[in-house]
Amino acid sequence: SITYLPGKEPHPRETRRILKNINREGWNTSIDCYLADGGYEELKKALGMEPKAVIDEVKKSGLRGRGGAGFPTGVKWTFIPPNNTKPVYLVCNCDESEPGTFKDRYIVHQDPHQLIEGMVISSYAVGAHLAYIYMREEFPIAAETMLKALQEARERGFLGKNILGSGYDLEIHLHRGAGAYICGEETALLNSLEGVRPYPRIKPPYFPAAIGLYGCPTIVNNVESLCQVKHVIAMGGEAYGQEGAKRSPGTRIIGVSGDVRRPGYYEIVSGSMTFGELLYDVCGGPREGREFKAVIPGGSSSKVMRTDVEYKTRNPDGTTGKISFFDIPLDLDSIAQYGSMSGSGAVIVMDDSRSMPWALNNINRFYAHESCGQCTPCREGCPWMMKLSTRILEGKGAPSDVDLLIQVANQIEGKTVCAFGEAASWPTQAMVSKFKEEFVALTDPFNACLPHSAEGREQ
Ligand code: NAI
Repeated sequence: SITYLPGKEPHPRETRRILKNINREGWNTSIDCYLADGGYEELKKALGMEPKAVIDEVKKSGLRGRGGAGFPTGVKWTFIPPNNTKPVYLVCNCDESEPGTFKDRYIVHQDPHQLIEGMVISSYAVGAHLAYIYMREEFPIAAETMLKALQEARERGFLGKNILGSGYDLEIHLHRGAGAYICGEETALLNSLEGVRPYPRIKPPYFPAAIGLYGCPTIVNNVESLCQVKHVIAMGGEAYGQEGAKRSPGTRIIGVSGDVRRPGYYEIVSGSMTFGELLYDVCGGPREGREFKAVIPGGSSSKVMRTDVEYKTRNPDGTTGKISFFDIPLDLDSIAQYGSMSGSGAVIVMDDSRSMPWALNNINRFYAHESCGQCTPCREGCPWMMKLSTRILEGKGAPSDVDLLIQVANQIEGKTVCAFGEAASWPTQAMVSKFKEEFVALTDPFNACLPHSAEGREQ
């Protein structure tokens, strides 16, 4: 039986699969420990299958990407052009940087062989002989751990030439980023790997699966997604697909931060609980004397949701009704149905002690700092939003600044090469429209006649 370090036991409502070994009593990152626990058995199983059969299992499982966009993994793999004659690459996106997101870090720090096994199986399925782990600069210890694990895997025949006598060759290289959020965007990441400035590439029409690294077909998957592949092979695609929410099956790691009694990472079966159950039963409810006010359900770029309002819902019989925030099930489609997204599984909780203008200003500072500057609306708009939200927060804004803030956000959304534009504008649109009274209360009509608010205002 598995025991965990004191104080690290999973909640009874968790299903630990990806996180099974995290903070486990007696666990370490060595290959011996991993093998003693049945490690690399799924790789052996996969190598006994045709690559196409592995892809079929992943497709059957309905596995959806865990990086944030939720794109079906098996379907992405089939986008490699059928008549391709170029090398195929697999890239693991380990640039986890979305504010509020802290899940992949546990895997790469504490269970590196799980990721390596998932990557070898996935590379075999898509026909890649060279794979990369793009790891964010801020994980220096994980980088060392991963390099050691890669070497161990090579020495034991799980990586390199003729893996386990199958005739299949694969090398995995670790590449460290340099601390830029934009490098988590898959095409910026590929440019960074190539050694050029990490400006995102235009997509569509050409997604990395068709034209990626060095102009070759490249599959980019998140750390957690690649680990899930191992479990799809263990369970079989069909069984995996029957667990949890119909259209987003399997377990997923939810990282809860902010104003709850027990923040932390929780691996739950998708759709197996509501927000209310997560926040009250699993996370222990709000802090003493406080009430929940708002939740950002999927990382800073997802739209904030008020906890005190009812959301319009469509019943299975076609009629409409209302649902409390706390009754919304925790799965990709349900959250999308109510106007936000599950993103990277980062649930940021704010109670009634929090100021929404402060929170938005904090987020705006982040995006203003991280905009890569390639697209004018984002390069100019993000610092402009930051300046406006700072001005409002400092009580120097005019009431019209609140509407201007939304207007600037609207001029960014949908007008940039990559999804950063949406990521940066959605927090402003959602926070200002849903908590407008808080923003207006900080402004002063007198400020409308100050120089900074006049025509030709400072931006
Ligand atoms: P996306 O929807 O453009 O793409 C998702 C994936 O599906 C990509 O790999 C893309 O290549 C593939 N894809 C989509 N349509 C395709 C097609 N027709 N043919 C072939 N492949 C196709 O989303 P994107 O920009 O990759 O990710 C945005 C999300 O990333 C955000 O929603 C956010 O939640 C998340 N994010 C996560 C971070 C983290 O730290 N985990 C950091 C920042 C953002």
